[in-house]
Amino acid sequence: MSAFKSTGRRKFLKLSALAATAIPFFRFRTVPGNSKIGSPVLVSTWRNTDANAAAWKVLSSNGHALDAVEQGARVPEANPKDTSVGYGGLPDREGIVTLDACIMDEKSNCGSVAFVQGFKHPVSIARMVMEKTPHVMLVGRGAEQFAASQGFKRENLLTKESERAWKEWLKKSEYKPYHNPGQHDTIGILALDGNGNLSGACTTSGMAYKMHGRVGDSPIIGAGLYVDGEVGAATATGVGEEMIRIAGSHTIVELMRNGRSPQEACEEAIKRLISKRGEEKARELSVAFLALSRSGEVGAYSTNNVFEYTISSPDHQHVVIKSPSYFN
Ligand code: GLY
Repeated sequence: MSAFKSTGRRKFLKLSALAATAIPFFRFRTVPGNSKIGSPVLVSTWRNTDANAAAWKVLSSNGHALDAVEQGARVPEANPKDTSVGYGGLPDREGIVTLDACIMDEKSNCGSVAFVQGFKHPVSIARMVMEKTPHVMLVGRGAEQFAASQGFKRENLLTKESERAWKEWLKKSEYKPYHNPGQHDTIGILALDGNGNLSGACTTSGMAYKMHGRVGDSPIIGAGLYVDGEVGAATATGVGEEMIRIAGSHTIVELMRNGRSPQEACEEAIKRLISKRGEEKARELSVAFLALSRSGEVGAYSTNNVFEYTISSPDHQHVVIKSPSYFN
């Protein structure tokens, strides 16, 4: 693992070299990097093999990328062991689980919900907002009313384990979002289907023990997710306030439009974020970006060295890759 300890481009080159020698099928298809992986291809934040497997079923049967990312996002949303997404997500400081999600396709159709309580699958509600309303975003009670009207089932999302963790947290009630690298595992999924269509989805229960009413980057089109069918797609995970500050996912897609590879674009966005916060503060921030170009190139970059992502393609059956990072 020592190859992952160096920084920036040097680290990326070392990672690529290591992957090329250790895993034969990386030899001609370096990940992350600038090489074309082809299509279909799917990437998701973190160690997310079950989600990728569900999404891959859609892609490998010639399905649309939008269906793939929705099916993928629903897997962690339903998993009570995933404590930062959907059912079982850690609650806010009042013990209430509130969920955020969005979805976007290659034609810039998009839908989003935020501050939703009592529904397990915000990504599917977001898709309904996109397809059945004249709006892009619904929040709180309005989103819940809409979900109920579309037949989504109301459920209690606070599991016993998450309630126990919240009660433990209450003893000190310390909110330290900047000191929990690796704790913010929002799921962002990007897919390029066999017909060249790009889509993305992003879903989260947000920062554990956040203020009631707080919404992060994940449901914000342009911050937690952005897709341009002519260029590429990007998604984010980590401390959402930071991604909103630089409109991170949109920034990455614009950088790609102007000729940067997905890898270069992710690195530039992280460096911009760090330059705005200063290195000392940024060192404590857990933020990562993942990008996929229209031609199937993948890029990933994070502030600290905890981020990993999962890739699926004809040559990568749900392979987890450690991302290069700015700080060791
Ligand atoms: N990235 C998820 C959040 O900050 O809510």
